[in-house]
Amino acid sequence: PDHTMDARIAAARAKLGTDVVLLGHHYQRDEVIRFADFTGDSYKLSKIAASTDARYILFCGVHFMAESADVLAKPWQQVILPDLNAGCSMADMAEIGQVEDCWDSLERLGVKNLMPLTYMNSAADIKAFCGERGGLVCTSSNARGAFEWAFERAEKILFLPDQHLGRNTAWAMGIPLDEMVVWDPYMLNGGTTPERLARAKVILWKGHCSVHQRFLPEHVDRVRREEPGMQVICHPECRWEVCQKADYLGSTERIIEIIEQAPEGSSFAIGTEIHLVNRLAARFAPLGKRVITLDDSGCLCTTMYRISPAHLAWSLENLVAGEVVNQIKVSDETKHWARVALDRMLEVKA
Ligand code: 13P
Ligand code: SF4
Repeated sequence: PDHTMDARIAAARAKLGTDVVLLGHHYQRDEVIRFADFTGDSYKLSKIAASTDARYILFCGVHFMAESADVLAKPWQQVILPDLNAGCSMADMAEIGQVEDCWDSLERLGVKNLMPLTYMNSAADIKAFCGERGGLVCTSSNARGAFEWAFERAEKILFLPDQHLGRNTAWAMGIPLDEMVVWDPYMLNGGTTPERLARAKVILWKGHCSVHQRFLPEHVDRVRREEPGMQVICHPECRWEVCQKADYLGSTERIIEIIEQAPEGSSFAIGTEIHLVNRLAARFAPLGKRVITLDDSGCLCTTMYRISPAHLAWSLENLVAGEVVNQIKVSDETKHWARVALDRMLEVKA
């Protein structure tokens, strides 16, 4: 841990007062998240971004989160991402040109009555694409509600970009695997056929989270074998085969709630990012609850990790000097339809 910047961060923070709000995603490192005014999952943080009146929203998270905050913020507010390299490999797996090509191909292949629905982990232009076509955004905490919202208005869903969240959500709603089809943007006709598409209720974009994809079914088997009584909680970005074996699925915020609500003596193996797991282990050990990672090697989100105390100090000190650095600004045109899609999401309860 790097605490050499602590005093500088605290001093700049104090000078800025209520002009700045610091939002911290649960995957942030300890030495960064400890400065957050609010911590949360993507859903909770986007609600806070939509309601805060602070002039500057400093987002300790990744690019798509800061973009969404800018879309939801008031026109006079500015959103800052302390390190512009903090992206998301999953969000990068769907580019707007590929999504437009997919949409046109699906039409050509005879797919009708289709609604686009994108996971929060996507670029603002993809959110706008969905908003303009009657669709919406979801997070891992309200994906089921968003699927229900979409199925009230369309027969089929194109789910972007996380095939695992899409599959896990559709399965939980009773949709069998043979009514889901994967669309591979690098293959002719998505690597599928008109017959498969005609049968599908959900078309899953072939994207994934490289962090969560590292959790395997055998990790759950090992916990069951070696740690009897231990409960397994996975983030729904984990593969379907892993989620099938878990006791609970939940967003980062939900994972925390499940452990909070469990009685003393409970133990949990968690399939999500290692900073959150380590923090939960330290927090709950004195309360008699044991928390371990599902995979011994510990899955690290290297882009979340990019936000460092030095970046935080640099962003804040520049604000004190009247300079806004690393502002994330979505164009007005994209903002309009992305806002429509995000507002629809905020109506769907977590
Ligand atoms: P949550 O919305 O559950 O915090 O997830 C965000 C994310 O990027 C998980 O990888
Ligand atoms: Fe993206 Fe995965 Fe990191 Fe979440 S954990 S921000 S989905 S790369």
